[in-house]
Amino acid sequence: MTETSPHPNRFYLTTPIYYVNARPHLGHAYSTIVCDAIARRKRALGIETWFLTGTDEHGQKIERSAKLAGCTPQEFATQVAAEFRGLWDRLGLTYDDFIRTTEERHRRGVQKLFATLRDRGFIYKGSYTGQYCVSDEAYVDGPPGTPCPDCGRPTETVSEENYFFKLSAFERRLLEFYEANPGFMAPESTRREVISFVRSGLKDLSVSRTSFSWGIPVPGDEKHVVYVWLDALANYITALGYGSEDDEKFRKFWPADIHLIGKEISRFHCVYWPAFLMAAGIPVPRSVRANGWLLFDQGKMSKSRGNIVRAETVQDVLGADTLRYFLLREIPFGQDGNFSFDALVQRYNGDLANGYGNLVSRVVNMVHKYFAGEVPEAGAETQAEAALRASAVGAIASFGPAFDELDFSEALKNLWLLVAGTDGYLTANAPWKKPVDRTDADHRKLQARVLATAAEAIRIITALVFPILPDAAAKVWQQLGQGELADAAGNGFLKDLAWGGLKPGTKFGEPAPLFPRAEKDAIERMQNLEDQNNRTAVEAASKDEIVAPSHAPAATSVNPTTGTDKTSVRAHQKLTPTAAGPANPEQPLNTAKVDQVPTPLASSRLNSTPVPAPAEAPLAPPVTPAPAAQGQEAATPQTQQITIDDFAKVDLCVAQILVAERVPKADKLLRLEVDLGYEKRQILAGIAQYYEPEKLIGRKIVIVANLAPRKMRGLVSNGMLLAASLEGGAPVLAGFLEEVPLGARLK
Ligand code: MSP
Repeated sequence: MTETSPHPNRFYLTTPIYYVNARPHLGHAYSTIVCDAIARRKRALGIETWFLTGTDEHGQKIERSAKLAGCTPQEFATQVAAEFRGLWDRLGLTYDDFIRTTEERHRRGVQKLFATLRDRGFIYKGSYTGQYCVSDEAYVDGPPGTPCPDCGRPTETVSEENYFFKLSAFERRLLEFYEANPGFMAPESTRREVISFVRSGLKDLSVSRTSFSWGIPVPGDEKHVVYVWLDALANYITALGYGSEDDEKFRKFWPADIHLIGKEISRFHCVYWPAFLMAAGIPVPRSVRANGWLLFDQGKMSKSRGNIVRAETVQDVLGADTLRYFLLREIPFGQDGNFSFDALVQRYNGDLANGYGNLVSRVVNMVHKYFAGEVPEAGAETQAEAALRASAVGAIASFGPAFDELDFSEALKNLWLLVAGTDGYLTANAPWKKPVDRTDADHRKLQARVLATAAEAIRIITALVFPILPDAAAKVWQQLGQGELADAAGNGFLKDLAWGGLKPGTKFGEPAPLFPRAEKDAIERMQNLEDQNNRTAVEAASKDEIVAPSHAPAATSVNPTTGTDKTSVRAHQKLTPTAAGPANPEQPLNTAKVDQVPTPLASSRLNSTPVPAPAEAPLAPPVTPAPAAQGQEAATPQTQQITIDDFAKVDLCVAQILVAERVPKADKLLRLEVDLGYEKRQILAGIAQYYEPEKLIGRKIVIVANLAPRKMRGLVSNGMLLAASLEGGAPVLAGFLEEVPLGARLK
């Protein structure tokens, strides 16, 4: 960051505030852990620091999620916000404030900001007709059917009276601002993307909504709620007291030094937010820094992909410090990075157990063994000590700048050179072994020199790494006889960190294990914890408890023969994917069978044996096929056999129809909007001749969720639904007799 701070000895940093439609996972923890590490270092440098996090609780997305969970948006938000806060506390994150956008202090501040923008002439009334992505809560340019350019999900057509913000008036000013403040946004990819977005022209932005009510009312015109992004971004100032009588913190800490965000929300933070602030006459933040995505199984870790890992799992097996170290060491900040249990355990064993942990334990134990736990006088330096001292001094000089540039990975990599250097120094001088050609006195001198020097190097390493490994560092600090690390950090100990702080005569604390080597089963234990959690989530959802819909790879094994009356599958009938799949989507379903699509239903029907069971035990008891089905076995045409792996490639999911309407000029097609619990989609289905659209709303169906999107009549179809295709008759949609949670996978 190149800009001069208006308050050099204060630091204000923020995480994005998290949507409460998803339970916290590692992706969320990543941003918050990065901020925690920064905050800890700043405080330990004696800088007055304010670290804010919180939850984003308004908007259409949350309103819908709450409805699906069968509770009020407020109840829903309260439950999930508590989960976020609970997790941050469990991980020991040192946020100073946690703001919820449903709090009164926030409502007041947002209304003040809105009124200020209006009073200063930057807000006017108009109407918006266009596309909206509910998942990203973002307006999207393009005709109906345009998928969201950010997340690829179908957009919805919105036609509303809205208030508009004169964003177009800020195009020049923003570009000039970026030019004058090159450190405002990073990494470079974010900077380029934002600048090109602004250069391509800014349109005025709708900043209120009228088609739903879960939000902050526009002051003076309460049928509007404030657009959720204006509402959410304002948290950074409302949490400091903007808009209240007590705005001391706002005056003290604003503008923020770092808004740390995920790269996908840089437009909101680097374009809209500074424009709102400029319009309101409030200083803009000093920098916005975007982290890349944490990937798991090749995709962005997210609820909608169903590929999440929980921070608790890693914490329970390897400890919170390990998670922090892994995330900051493994992923160069700003880039996407893979998370895997394998890589995690490898880093743990390599860098922490065998590296830092082992080094500390060797030295502390030897000081106890050879010097009764008291730091000896080092005596005169030889070349070896001078070299180690120079490395440590170099580490002190280089770690801070790299860390402060958020280049944690580089900072740690270099610091671990000092770990390895100290280890090598110990091994080379072998204080535990007395060579035959030495006198006792010589050897004693060597032991004293080597152990005092190595211990001092450990002290430096520990002080520097403390923001990243706070628990381990606190233990080592005790073992080195330095007392409470929290106290030292509170006194700004890092500011004065220099070689030579470990005084002779210092009494060491008891040695205690830091990072016991992870055994082979660590990976399996983490995987089991995740599986178990996924199962619990599915069970909870099916018991109608309030849960954020989670796309747990369902442990539920759905037996097809339990379909509804209408859908109970007869031997000669197939469950046929309809809509986007067939060559001609407008072809009536009974002639448009897709035989290649694996049909688990057919296999159970044909053989009257249970569906090949996946590894996990099915929750649903196996059901004996109906006699009628058995009786007709012989008449069933045999389909090509597939393996369970082939079948596993097809993502069959339970979805609910939210919207169903005819597609103009296509008498066989219906346009459906379906909810999978974790996301909403548009699907086109060739069932218009057989189903009244109104009667479909609310029905739970089965869809093929991972079918490549296809365009028909200018509309994108994102998946296809399954129906029994009857020879010469109407198709019958697949459904369930029992309650099934949305998003449950059929397998
Ligand atoms: N509510 C908005 C932010 C409003 S800020 C005024 C939002 N919320 S979110 O819950 O969808 O995402 C919040 C942040 O979570 C992301 O910006 C990112 O920092 C973090 N991440 C969520 N999943 C992630 C990964 N898989 N990887 C890295 N970070 C991720 O957007």
